[in-house]
Amino acid sequence: MQVIATIGQKGGSGKSTLALALAVEAHRAGRSVAVIDLDPQTTASNWSDRRSDEQPAVVSCQVSRLQQVLDAAAKGGADLAIIDTPGKLTDALIAAAKAADFVMVPIQPQLYDIETLASLKDVLMLAKNPACAVVVNRAPVQGKRHIETQDAARVQGFTVCPVVIHNRAAHGDAGNVGRSAAEMEPNGRAAQEITALYSYIAIALTETDHEKVRISRRA
Ligand SMILES: Nc1ncnc2c1ncn2[C@@H]1O[C@H](COP(=O)(O)OP(=O)(O)OP(=O)(O)O)[C@@H](O)[C@H]1O
Ligand SMILES: [Mg+2]
Repeated sequence: MQVIATIGQKGGSGKSTLALALAVEAHRAGRSVAVIDLDPQTTASNWSDRRSDEQPAVVSCQVSRLQQVLDAAAKGGADLAIIDTPGKLTDALIAAAKAADFVMVPIQPQLYDIETLASLKDVLMLAKNPACAVVVNRAPVQGKRHIETQDAARVQGFTVCPVVIHNRAAHGDAGNVGRSAAEMEPNGRAAQEITALYSYIAIALTETDHEKVRISRRA
């Protein structure tokens, strides 16, 4: 079973939104997906309660039980687990990053988010430096702020996902009814961006040395 974690110390950066969007995308691509909700806010679990479809499965989990829950998911037939994390709980971030084959760090294109990357790097190092990429989320549809943000993340030594997720109402609207933007608007721009993000991560997961997605040890 492959494991992806969405982590980041900034609240509201889109960890849950992207974790759930990717889970739906993977499910639609034929994978057996389990979302592991480590957040006491239970955003992902609440989303699942609002959802009519039972897939992707969402399991609420305490940090101390993460490995057991991952083992149970694998035993139950899941071939992909996506861990959604609480930004404020460092233990949960470290545990999720340690368990992950690939870590996605969503950040909004604003200084408040960029500033959190320095200490996030410490979290990643404590988790033994997993394959990781920063993805800019909620980028304004107009302007170039996402490029400046990508550059700032690179300067701090992070690999940056070339796919930018823009601010699109479909993400919030879909979440309100337990769906993903791609399910609500299959041909919409939000759906296209999530498909591109999923492809990027799917390729990263197949890379054996992870060089392209590894945070620089020198940075
Ligand atoms: N690309 C996007 N376009 C529009 N709205 C978005 C996008 N990504 C996230 N949002 C909205 O931003 C808000 C915060 O997103 P989300 O809950 O996914 O963040 P989070 O990082 O999981 O927050 P927390 O740290 O509280 O767990 C939500 O209202 C969500 O609908
Ligand atoms: Mg969340």
